[in-house]
Amino acid sequence: MSNEQQTQTRIYKPSEEMVKNAAVSGMEAYLALCKEAEDDYEGFWARNARELIEWKKPFTQVLDESNAPFFKWFADGQLNVSYNCLDRNVNNGLGDKVAIIFEADNGEVTRVTYKDLLARVSRFANALRGMGVKKGDRVVIYLPMSIEGVVAMQACARIGATHSIVFGGFSAQALRDRINDAGAVALITSDGQHRGGKALPLKPIADEALSLGGCESIRNVIVVKRTGAQTAMEAGRDQWFHDVCANQSDTCEPEWVDAEHPLFLLYTSGSTGKPKGVQHSTGGYLLHAIMSMKYTFDIKPDDVFWCTADIGWVTGHTFITYGPLACGTTEIVFEGVPTYPDAGRFWKMIQDHKVTVFYTAPTAIRSLIKAADNNPDVHPKKYDLSSLRILGSVGEPINPAAWEWYHENVGGGRCPIVDTFWQTETGAHMITPMPGATPLVPGSCTLPFPGIQCAVVDETGTEVPNGQGGILVVKRPWPSMIRTIWGDPERFKKSYYPDDFKGKLYLAGDGAIRDKDTGYFTITGRIDDVLNVSGHRMGTMEIESALVAHEKVAEAAVVGRPDDLTGEAIVAFVVLKGARPSGEEAKAIIKELQNWVGHEIGPIAKPKDIRFGENLPKTRSGKIMRRLLRQLAKGEEITQDTSTLENPAILDQLGQPLS
Ligand code: WT7
Repeated sequence: MSNEQQTQTRIYKPSEEMVKNAAVSGMEAYLALCKEAEDDYEGFWARNARELIEWKKPFTQVLDESNAPFFKWFADGQLNVSYNCLDRNVNNGLGDKVAIIFEADNGEVTRVTYKDLLARVSRFANALRGMGVKKGDRVVIYLPMSIEGVVAMQACARIGATHSIVFGGFSAQALRDRINDAGAVALITSDGQHRGGKALPLKPIADEALSLGGCESIRNVIVVKRTGAQTAMEAGRDQWFHDVCANQSDTCEPEWVDAEHPLFLLYTSGSTGKPKGVQHSTGGYLLHAIMSMKYTFDIKPDDVFWCTADIGWVTGHTFITYGPLACGTTEIVFEGVPTYPDAGRFWKMIQDHKVTVFYTAPTAIRSLIKAADNNPDVHPKKYDLSSLRILGSVGEPINPAAWEWYHENVGGGRCPIVDTFWQTETGAHMITPMPGATPLVPGSCTLPFPGIQCAVVDETGTEVPNGQGGILVVKRPWPSMIRTIWGDPERFKKSYYPDDFKGKLYLAGDGAIRDKDTGYFTITGRIDDVLNVSGHRMGTMEIESALVAHEKVAEAAVVGRPDDLTGEAIVAFVVLKGARPSGEEAKAIIKELQNWVGHEIGPIAKPKDIRFGENLPKTRSGKIMRRLLRQLAKGEEITQDTSTLENPAILDQLGQPLS
């Protein structure tokens, strides 16, 4: 960013009222928290852990670095997350407060109080125990957005079972791989899901996954009845959720676990083909989930909080199932999609439920801008959004134009936007504004969360001066960080604590640049082979593996291309086993391959653009030149010297999009 650009960028200061009432009140308060952590790092986190969590057995140890980078936090403390989210609130007089406002795809609303939620969770936890599910067992959850989804997660936490959610949009193959890797004993799914006015099947996909082989560890399948579709149930294995919960007691003694006990696994894409099972802890994770609610969202007793993410992603874990409930918050859980019955759905729901804190992704904002441009009836200005006080953004960089629109049209120019940078691996917020403290600059996630120490470094791990781009790292371990990759500690070390940095710095996998004057961070995108499509993380190698598994494909290379709507779009370069196709034949194969990838991984992984060549651009040693493919995907002319290529002529062929 040049100096000139910087002075043109508007800076948005928090209003006096926001500063006065916020948990982090003004820049001085933010800096004081940072200083507290700098002066006594362990003391800072320990103080918060004592204040914000109810421990069964208080911890005496804080950070244990003896087996770095396998760090431990609060290791001799014991607690239960579900107790902290439910019993604690009921015991504190919030039993009749609404915990969840569930709005179905068709608009039907169900309210669940804290007391009721505790009873539902207890009944299902008892049912799981009755099936022999015990502490440390893995349970895979493949459910749509639902009250039962939250109940299932909390029930696992209650009995110390480690859950692993698989997003309902993933394929049978993807589900199988995750069940297999986790060695899960139970699968919780539903007959189907309602989205955008349609009923879609889910149990048949689960059945297909289980029939693929490798899921022999599954003893029980529990099925939530949602759509009422005709559903095959395998005797001795499958049971209805409502049947297993019937006649169960409304109370269930929580399983007290050590702070390091794995609360959940969540599979995410990395640079290599196989998704990795990110393992999170109990105590440290809960702590930062609560701190993010408190500091970043300034959550107050009267707030109505709405995070639009799916429970299948980490955002849904931290900001639907755990953070809000641990704070005794009333939150929205939404089954549907932002464009049904029309693209005013989000705004109507904010108006109807008087949402005060709203958290969504830039992709959603960009698509709703487009919809509002085309149809004034679904413009946010048509709705009463005066209840809003804080807006959030997550998942990908938010472009300044979308930021400004969100600020003006949704927030009425009054609401600070917290652009929160974090990852599946970080558990909660890492770099984000504090709404009552940080002056905002559109497009920048601003400054690290209090206690988090981020830096921008070069390949040797040396910090670069502000204004110079580099690699984003975290300098010290923090409570909610990934503990390991399930079953693959070596991969954990290599991916996050590489030798290049002497194993001392956490590598986020993103590039970043800090502003010369303010030190504000701007994320410049992934530096590995990971794409971000509509805020969903996809490994290029995962898609390549899916493509080459097709009988017609000999070779494939996948790259990203900037896209106005989805942030990045997937472009695949494919060499077929037969002749290079053209015309109608090529179009048909493109369709076939797109559907194939959709079936192998899930619809979100379908390449937007597929190009065929007789070969891929390779060096003489056979390495695919992805840099050139990225340029071709963008439609850029290749101007640099390509004489080191074995087959420079191939670039012309691959440069031609089909339609
Ligand atoms: C990757 C993590 C935890 C959030 C949901 C996605 C990108 C995330 C931002 C942001 C710029 C962002 C990064 C990161 N990302 N938030 N505010 N600004 N980029 O979690 O699937 O683990 O993806 O999303 O590239 O590494 P995820």
